[in-house]
Parts: sequence; structure tokens; C-alpha cells
Amino acid sequence: VDLHVGLDGRRDLGGQIYAQVRAAILDGRLRPGDDLPPTRELATRLAVSRNTVSAAYERLAAEGFVSGRVGVGTYVSAQLPAVARRPDADRSPADDPVRPRAVWDTMSDPPDLSLGEPAFDFRTGLPDARYFPFATWRGLVSAELRGAGQRHTYGEPAGHPALRAAIARHVAVSRAVLAGPADVFVTNGIQQAIDLLGRVLIEPGDVVAMEDPGYPPPKRLFRSLGARVVGVPVDADGLVVDALPDDVRLVYVTPSHQFPLGAAMPLARRLSLLAWARRTGAVILEDDYDSEFRWTGRPVEPLQSLDRAGRVVYVGSFSKTMLPTLRLGFCVAPASLHTALRKAKYVADWQSGQPMQAALARFIDDGLLARHLRRMRRVYRARRDRIAMALDGQLAGVLEPVSAAAGLHLTAWLREGDPGADEEVERRAAAAGVAVYPLSMFAVDRPARPGLVLGYGMIEVDRIDEGLRRLHACLGRAGTVTGT
Ligand SMILES: Cc1ncc(COP(=O)(O)O)c(C=O)c1O
Repeated sequence: VDLHVGLDGRRDLGGQIYAQVRAAILDGRLRPGDDLPPTRELATRLAVSRNTVSAAYERLAAEGFVSGRVGVGTYVSAQLPAVARRPDADRSPADDPVRPRAVWDTMSDPPDLSLGEPAFDFRTGLPDARYFPFATWRGLVSAELRGAGQRHTYGEPAGHPALRAAIARHVAVSRAVLAGPADVFVTNGIQQAIDLLGRVLIEPGDVVAMEDPGYPPPKRLFRSLGARVVGVPVDADGLVVDALPDDVRLVYVTPSHQFPLGAAMPLARRLSLLAWARRTGAVILEDDYDSEFRWTGRPVEPLQSLDRAGRVVYVGSFSKTMLPTLRLGFCVAPASLHTALRKAKYVADWQSGQPMQAALARFIDDGLLARHLRRMRRVYRARRDRIAMALDGQLAGVLEPVSAAAGLHLTAWLREGDPGADEEVERRAAAAGVAVYPLSMFAVDRPARPGLVLGYGMIEVDRIDEGLRRLHACLGRAGTVTGT
């Protein structure tokens, strides 16, 4: 490995090399089996004699930190000697020379979704990668990586021109979003679209309103920017507009499929939200994260296309329609924000990965996204129908389904149970191999009515019945689950 060694002055050069390699091994920068730089190479790099380096390596070898063989070189030993490490236990944050802003201490850690593979996976928000056309996608990406003949310089922060045009057409056709390529900004997922809008729109102390229960990451993001985040209740028609305070700078909503409860906001409610925004001067951030999967009812026009006042920013994602690992999303913004958004993307990360963007443009333009979506709709519909049937049947005594027209999950309330009871169900279910999210984890200001979010992005249809049977056993008799 290319270990950094920095020498100070001309005294005890061998000792300095020894100490730095030893420290790198002890703090884990060098792992067992890693090669040390060859003595000749390191000597040249540090302008010291080869003997100086050899002596340092020999001392490390004598203490058991490294091993060496002629022809193989010197490498970090598989069995490291036991060395007393500085105890960390009695350190207090006050000892740290640099401290993050206090807001980061109030924030929970990111969830670890890589942990194990639950036998029965009802986690929401995850599409089924087993059906993704990897070979096709690989072909498109590798065509973009063919070599120096293509432009591999920093590009346009707002996004690859072909992709901006493809997304504009895609959302115009599939969602009646009114957008030209200039209105589209390519981002690393919806999450970055929201980050850029936060940078562009939010001053510390501004009020941001969001649905309660709602999607947690934007809440944390807005808080990190110094905003005061307030939860607004949700009913069967989505966000309750009459409950919005007047001093809101931005309201974050999921009108096509309220996350996590599932309501589709009817036209009348949409119009009243737009009227409220016109009256108060607030910006509406419309998150349309999974409405490509719509199962019943007629689609309602997005707020973005109903808006006549330029107050709505629309954000979308390829995380559900393709893969969340691609980190590709976008926002469609009114002209008044274009210049600032472009600068915000530039200061954030300059641009999203260009080969991926170009490949996605082809994926959309060649009709491959539409084909994949048709296939996935069949797959997910069968799963959804299966869960809906169980909710109306064997689970009807313990769970009360919440109606939802779109998306990759169904939500149901526990018929009985105190606030927090759903977290106890989550724990019991996990022990039975069933992964399911409790509604409580999406509460913003007020405790959520206990319930479960049953995602079907990851679970094969033939595993649903057994998964739900086990879940049923965890729910026990209605009323026996109590909060913790
Ligand atoms: C409400 C909501 N918005 C957005 C996203 C997707 O975000 P991203 O595009 O950053 O992956 C999700 C994913 O779970 C979501 O549930």
C-alpha cells in the first residue's frame, strides 16, 4: 500500500519511520496482510538511505508487527502483538479539540439497511433488484466508459443535457408535469434535491412544515440547516391544510401517496393547499417518490401542474423505479430558482456522475424504463393484492387497513394498543424472521397511532402468507400488545 510517511528534520529518521508504520498498524489504517512499500522505494521517496528503512522494518519485524520474505516483501503480520491501547472509555466530549455543531448530537444515526437479509422482508422503500435488467444497464454504462474519445471533464452542474431532456419528457408524459429541459435539475436522489432546495430557500430559524407522520430524512435535513420543523396532521385526504401555520417558509408534502399512511390527496385539497401557499407566500415541495406504481383510482394532477403561481418544486427519484444504489433523482423547479439551484448543485458536488446520467438518458429514451416499469407493476401488484387480501381476511381482527392507491407499501393500524405498541410488534416480528416498520418511527411532533407499514418491494409473493402468519402470531390477541 502507498503509506504516507512524513519525516520531520534529520534526527532519528529510522525511529520516525518505525513509529509511523507502527501507529498505522495500531489504528487500523494498515490491515493484516497489507504490503509495506519496498525498502528501496520508500528510501527514494523519503530521500534517506535504504539501510535506514531496512532498520525500521527489522525493528517492526522483531516486535511482531510485520513479517517479510525474500521475493514477497514486507507485509503486516496476520497475528499482531497485543499492545495496550489508550483507553477511550473515560474520554468526555469536552476533551475533543473539534466538536460538530450541537444539532448533530440531536440527530439519530442513519439506519443500517445492509444488516442481514430478513427471511420475510416487509421493509418499505426498497425495490426488488432481482428483476432489474442488469445486463442492459451494464451495456449502457460501459458504452459511456468506452474511453478518452468521450468528454470526461467536469460538466454542467444542472445535469447531462440528454438526461434533463429525457426526464422532462418522461414526467410530462407520465405525470403531466409541466417542464422543459431547463426546469430539470439532476440530483443524487430526492435526498439531494431536498438538500439543494434547503440551501437555496431556508434561512436559520425559518419554519418548515411537513406531514406528521412523515418521511424522516427531510426532517433531519431541514433541522440541520437551522430550520424549525413542525409536524402537520394527516387525515384520509393527506396533509390537513387548515392545520398549517401561517409563518411557513416551505411545506414538504407527498400528495400522490402520503408517506407513510398512503392517502392520495384529492383535487379539492390540492387546490386549497395551493391557495394557502399563494396567500402565505410559502413554497411547496412536492415529493412524488413512488407514484409510478398506482393501483386504483384515477391519477390526480400533481400540484406542480395545477400551480399557476410558480410556488411548487417537484422532486422525483429513480430509487424505486430502478435502484436506490444508483442515487439518481431530479427536481423540476420554477424559473425563479434556476440560477440559485445550479449554483447550489455546483457548491454541493459540482455534478452527478456523468456516465450514469448519460446511461439513464438512453434507458429512458429507448423505452427501457417504461418496459421495466410494466414488468415491475405486474410483480408488485400481485404482492400488494396478496397482502390486501390477508388484511381483509386473517389479519382483519388485529389490523385495520388504511386505504392506499399507489406505492410499494400498505399501512395498517393496530386495532388495539398504546402508542409505542407497534415497536414491540416490530421487535417480536424481527425475532421471528419478519422485518416490518412500525408507524411510530415516522412520528414528527405527536405520537403516531400505532400501526405497521407493510412494504412489498422485497418480498416474493409466495413468501407473503407465511410472513404474515408469523406477524399475526406476534400481534397476539388484540389488546395484548402494550407499549414499552
Ligand atoms: C417519501 C420518500 N421520498 C423520497 C424517497 C427516495 O429518496 P432518494 O431518491 O433519495 O432515494 C423515499 C425513499 O424511501 C421516500 O420514502
